[in-house]
Amino acid sequence: MPMCWTRRGTKRNERRRPFLALLCAVFFLTVPGPGQIYLPPPPAEQPSDYGKVILNSHSSTAGPGPVVFDHWLHRAKFTCRLCHVDIGFAMQANATGVKAGTNRQGFHCGACHDGKRLFEGRPIFAACSDDSKGKECDRCHSLGKWGVRKYNYDAFTAKLPKGFYGVDWMAAENKRKIKLVDSLEGISVKRVPIQAREDFTIKARLPWVHPILFSHEQHSAWNGCELCHPEIFPTARKETVQFSMFLNIEGRYCGACHGKVAFPLNNCCACHPLGPFWMAGKLGKTPDWVLFP
Ligand code: HEC
Ligand code: HEC
Ligand code: HEC
Ligand code: HEC
Ligand code: HEC
Ligand code: HEC
Repeated sequence: MPMCWTRRGTKRNERRRPFLALLCAVFFLTVPGPGQIYLPPPPAEQPSDYGKVILNSHSSTAGPGPVVFDHWLHRAKFTCRLCHVDIGFAMQANATGVKAGTNRQGFHCGACHDGKRLFEGRPIFAACSDDSKGKECDRCHSLGKWGVRKYNYDAFTAKLPKGFYGVDWMAAENKRKIKLVDSLEGISVKRVPIQAREDFTIKARLPWVHPILFSHEQHSAWNGCELCHPEIFPTARKETVQFSMFLNIEGRYCGACHGKVAFPLNNCCACHPLGPFWMAGKLGKTPDWVLFP
């Protein structure tokens, strides 16, 4: 797996892929000073397994087997905010306490999967309800079962643009291949449209690392404000957080999403603009790809 990629997958920089990968490796791995290695663990081998959550607090003992929840399917339809703020799913596997009972009462999965709520004109199949047909149970309680699911990763993502690793979700949205629903009747409260915050750059502590462009506006469109503030970034002011790549790799700050559901941390170049190290801090805007060593 190449360690490095460019921000935009143009033909021109595709041809330069091996060169870029090499350059990145050299650029990042020869860390002067403390000799630390900034390497996150590789993401799941198959992009179809990335962001997969197995819910199994009690289903294997008390129910029809563990539940498989896929982010690739749901994030192609809904914003992160809708599920993680309005419906209230935790940002950590098995931390929400989903139960057959809560689903039946219309919470958690049951906020959508109630057999009545329409999506694209069809009712969404019900979760854990007594009156739903038996075969619907296995669509969720699917771990280790074959042929029980309607959606298949390869078929579902065939028409979506691909990037460094699996689907390029930003491109999919920009090209309007997916349209995300951001509110649910009866669950989301009407909100005043959130005011987008300005994009800003995060200055690295190491002088040879280029400042990172962070798009407040884009992130707010997917996550609202509440997914990041105050839990991940407890800030009212810029530069209160002491960023570090180590903390990202530990799953804090950017790593709360990147490396789990949003593109993996191995995609260094998607965050770190590259360029000759002596130009760090001098490039006016994020370069599209590596210039030269
Ligand atoms: C349809 C609802 C839904 C959508 C949309 C959704 N999530 Fe999730 N997410 C969940 C559920 C359910 C879990 C598991 C919670 C649990 O097990 O308690 C989860 C878990 C997570 C986790 C923890 C994963 C782990 O392995 O610990 C992260 C991080 C996360 N989501 C981020 C995101 C991001 C970022 C987006 C948007 C790109 C997103 N989610 C979109 C429902 C959703
Ligand atoms: C915001 C609404 C929403 C929430 C919340 C939600 N889903 Fe879904 N889910 C959908 C929609 C819409 C589909 C597509 C249904 C269809 O096409 O029949 C879907 C499809 C699925 C599928 C695919 C089934 C198949 O046959 O391939 C699974 C599995 C699934 N959801 C599991 C879950 C689980 C588990 C939870 C809770 C942890 C959950 N979903 C929460 C909206 C939601
Ligand atoms: C939309 C997804 C979905 C569908 C469809 C679904 N379930 Fe569940 N079910 C869940 C989730 C999520 C859990 C909680 C998993 C965990 O953490 O153990 C669960 C848990 C359970 C449990 C464990 C006991 C408990 O109180 O939590 C039972 C029993 C159960 N479901 C029965 C059923 C039956 C029977 C059907 C079919 C009629 C069904 N479920 C269909 C998502 C689903
Ligand atoms: C999701 C965005 C993101 C990705 C992907 C990413 N980084 Fe970082 N990186 C950051 C942020 C934010 C900082 C903090 C800047 C600071 O204040 O020093 C950082 C800082 C660093 C630093 C400076 C030392 C430090 O701890 O501050 C190094 C070296 C680094 N990253 C290497 C890498 C390498 C190598 C990869 C790929 C394997 C990578 N990064 C991928 C966001 C990212
Ligand atoms: C993906 C995460 C994320 C989302 C979503 C997000 N922010 Fe931020 N926000 C940050 C980070 C990172 C900082 C910088 C923290 C630091 O340097 O201490 C920041 C800084 C801020 C600041 C202080 C700096 C400034 O620009 O004045 C405010 C205010 C702020 N955010 C408001 C918002 C609002 C309002 C929204 C929703 C429209 C939002 N944020 C959405 C990550 C996020
Ligand atoms: C709450 C979850 C979350 C957090 C925290 C988060 N991101 Fe993201 N970020 C996303 C999602 C979702 C996308 C969409 C792309 C994807 O999912 O692969 C994204 C996309 C991006 C992009 C590409 C946007 C573009 O326009 O090119 C960059 C760069 C990025 N993130 C950097 C960062 C950095 C740096 C941090 C930490 C300061 C951070 N992100 C924290 C969820 C998050």
